[in-house]
Amino acid sequence: MNLFRTKSIEQMRNMAASSGMVKSLNAFDLILLGIGCIIGTGIFVLTGVAAAKYAGPAVTISFVISGSACAFAALAYAEFASIVPSSGSAYTYTYASLGEFIAFLVGWNLILEYTVTASAVASGWSGYVTGLLQSAGIEISQALTRVPADGGIINLPAIFITLLLSFFLIHGTQGSTKLNRILVFVKLAAVFIFLLLAGPHVNTANWEPFMPFGFSGVAGGAAIVFFAYIGFDAVATSAEECKNPSHDLPIGIIGSLIVCTILYIVVAAVLTGIVPYTELNNPEPVAFALRYIGYNMGSALVGVGAIAGITTVLLVLLYGQARIFFAMSRDGMVPAKICKIHQRYRTPYIVTILGAIFVSAISGFAPIGLIAEMANIGTLSAFLVAAIGVLVLRVTKPDLPRTFCCPFVWVIAPLAVFSCGYLMCNLPWETWVRFIVWCAIGCAIYFGYSYQHSILGKKDALENKVQPNTD
Ligand code: ALA
Repeated sequence: MNLFRTKSIEQMRNMAASSGMVKSLNAFDLILLGIGCIIGTGIFVLTGVAAAKYAGPAVTISFVISGSACAFAALAYAEFASIVPSSGSAYTYTYASLGEFIAFLVGWNLILEYTVTASAVASGWSGYVTGLLQSAGIEISQALTRVPADGGIINLPAIFITLLLSFFLIHGTQGSTKLNRILVFVKLAAVFIFLLLAGPHVNTANWEPFMPFGFSGVAGGAAIVFFAYIGFDAVATSAEECKNPSHDLPIGIIGSLIVCTILYIVVAAVLTGIVPYTELNNPEPVAFALRYIGYNMGSALVGVGAIAGITTVLLVLLYGQARIFFAMSRDGMVPAKICKIHQRYRTPYIVTILGAIFVSAISGFAPIGLIAEMANIGTLSAFLVAAIGVLVLRVTKPDLPRTFCCPFVWVIAPLAVFSCGYLMCNLPWETWVRFIVWCAIGCAIYFGYSYQHSILGKKDALENKVQPNTD
């Protein structure tokens, strides 16, 4: 068995060039795509939860810690993205550096990341919309808006938004990019309205005690708010739809991460400065904080912006999930039939439909709280492996053309490995158990199906057969 066979970079470039997808995205679209996916449930919901339960006002430090881990990983990602401009992000990069088996596991964990995160985000969308409708006097039966574990039957709004956005995605990336652009501006407007209204009301007394749960609370908070950064890697999954991927992808990834990190730290500081951190453990802390200081209208506006924000996150997650599936099926890791491109819309429609079904099933019926932290562990593991992969390629293929070189790679990449590993260690042990079970299922699929069906494996076998006998 050759578990560590690697795909040639040249082969990947050719494959990307002939994928048949429309190349319509530029660097600006990519930054918006990144912001579209990054700012969502994390800032609008988790900042408050992390402050109240883990870090207190020092949640700002938690954001700095996980933001740094993401920045290190983003630099490594950007170098990879400039070498291998092909759908599939960390999965594809690992295939070129660490070999097929590890690449399969990375792809498997990216599917986990995207599916679980999208499901949690769809549920968050449902919660915000239901809340807004309620405050407008429109009551929807709980049976139709909650999962069985929370006393309902089905979460219909979550299913509705998942199917609606998948429908947009199937009908073409161009249209979805336009929708994404509009929603990103609405969400940024919501963040700025909050900062403008709340900023003058900051009372520094609320920042005392700064670290009520000690440094371990800050580290636990960092492992949780990491969720808020998930998404910058989604930019890398769109390589085959970029006009100039080697130039634009690094700009898209790093640009969107910088914008979001700054906003997170400022919002977290203002939020904990206007409301005592103990009050922030609620489903809509940002809107709540504005009501707390008397801005009811501003609170409603921010609520609408949050819904727009969460919608864009879901859109990009569904988009990224389809692209990972697409990249894996094209390599024979999952059945090739699902990688078909729609004749008219030029999008991978079967994988998009499959993804929509999984996300709808989870968000419609499963208690999302139980599995949400799975998103973090799946993502962190993929970042960690990608950072190792960059170093491996620097040693094994030093002469590859790299449009973007990770600066101080022998410092930055090990820092990415260390910081992602550190955040993983701060997640609860139950998450680790579920993660190990998920990986074990992945191994079973790899050895039961993917190894035999691998396109690379078949090609290698054919080449070995036609090799002339030199004995
Ligand atoms: N980063 C995304 C969010 O915060 C997943 O919603």
